[in-house]
Amino acid sequence: MSAAVGIALTGSGSATPSRTVSNDELSLWLDTSDGWIRSRTGIAARRVATLEDSLESLASQAAREAMDQAGWTPDQVELILLATSSPEDLFGSAPAVQAALGATNAVAFDLTAACSGFLFALITGAQYIRAGTYRRVLVVGADMLSRWVDWQDRRTCVLFGDGAGAMAMEAAPHGWEGLLAMAMETDGRRRHCLTLSHHTTPQNLHEQLQAGSGGFGSITMDGQEVYKFAVQQVPLVLTRVLQQAGITPEQLDWLLLHQANERILAAVAQRLGIPASKVLSNLQHYGNTSAATIPLMLHGAVSTGGIQPGHLIASSGFGAGLSWGAALLRWGVT
Ligand code: ACO
Repeated sequence: MSAAVGIALTGSGSATPSRTVSNDELSLWLDTSDGWIRSRTGIAARRVATLEDSLESLASQAAREAMDQAGWTPDQVELILLATSSPEDLFGSAPAVQAALGATNAVAFDLTAACSGFLFALITGAQYIRAGTYRRVLVVGADMLSRWVDWQDRRTCVLFGDGAGAMAMEAAPHGWEGLLAMAMETDGRRRHCLTLSHHTTPQNLHEQLQAGSGGFGSITMDGQEVYKFAVQQVPLVLTRVLQQAGITPEQLDWLLLHQANERILAAVAQRLGIPASKVLSNLQHYGNTSAATIPLMLHGAVSTGGIQPGHLIASSGFGAGLSWGAALLRWGVT
């Protein structure tokens, strides 16, 4: 155990289903319009998984890309954390990612915290590195909420899309610091604002034994409450991590928020005094991909050369739980 272990963020990857569904296509069966969805959310289209797609294969593709970019071989990966709320196996989809990568030396498990999942997984992975337990960690965020929305509920189904993103994180030489500050929060009293609950039905096994069975319903959300929560709490938690690290908003290169709504991005940026040119957004193309939004956006900006090695990024995730958190990241190694 060494307090001096630094962290380097050395790879990113992403994968999305190929099928794009535009707002106009949604209005083929829903009472909605491109104008309403764009003006209220900033979303123009989203990717939707068809029967050929699987969460485990998207997560594996994204993870492989991040691993390759970091220059690791599969046997060097020591931990795979899969943040997801829509696994294909309730016992965990991370082992499928481990098998697909051939990362036979890695322990792999799922972590569930809805749209905060990737950020929580990143912070969790970093603790293993800092403690000296593992040196190379793959953090993956993947969700297919298209499988869990009510496609007749225009208040929710227009918001979500499917995808996966990943980040490679490793112990850094010379105390390089890729994670400068972090914070995580939960307010379970407000969990009913956004749920995907199990519905239990009785199953009579014999006269004196009644067990429960059933299945999960679809997403329900109080959109206005979640909106208010996000614009109140996200600026506060970001301010806290900036203060922890002694960094001012002017020193940031990028603001990378959970991609839920363009108006939330703008409100948070305005509260912190961050110009729109530093606010990363891919909402227009992908909608809210839940645990995937932050690494999907990050990989897009790394691939197009927007995020450069050494850049300072303030990131915040928020969503069901209610849960939220923030991290101050320095990309790559210079
Ligand atoms: N098309 C057309 N009309 C619609 C649609 C739609 N898709 N959806 C709702 N409307 C209607 C409503 O029925 C309502 O009509 P009414 O006044 O006649 O009842 C009207 O539009 C206004 O509805 P509001 O819900 O007040 O709209 P609002 O401006 O609040 O926008 C939205 C709704 C986009 C959901 C917003 O509240 C929001 O983004 N909330 C935050 C969601 C979020 O951030 N989630 C992140 C977490 S996700 C996770 O953790 C898995």
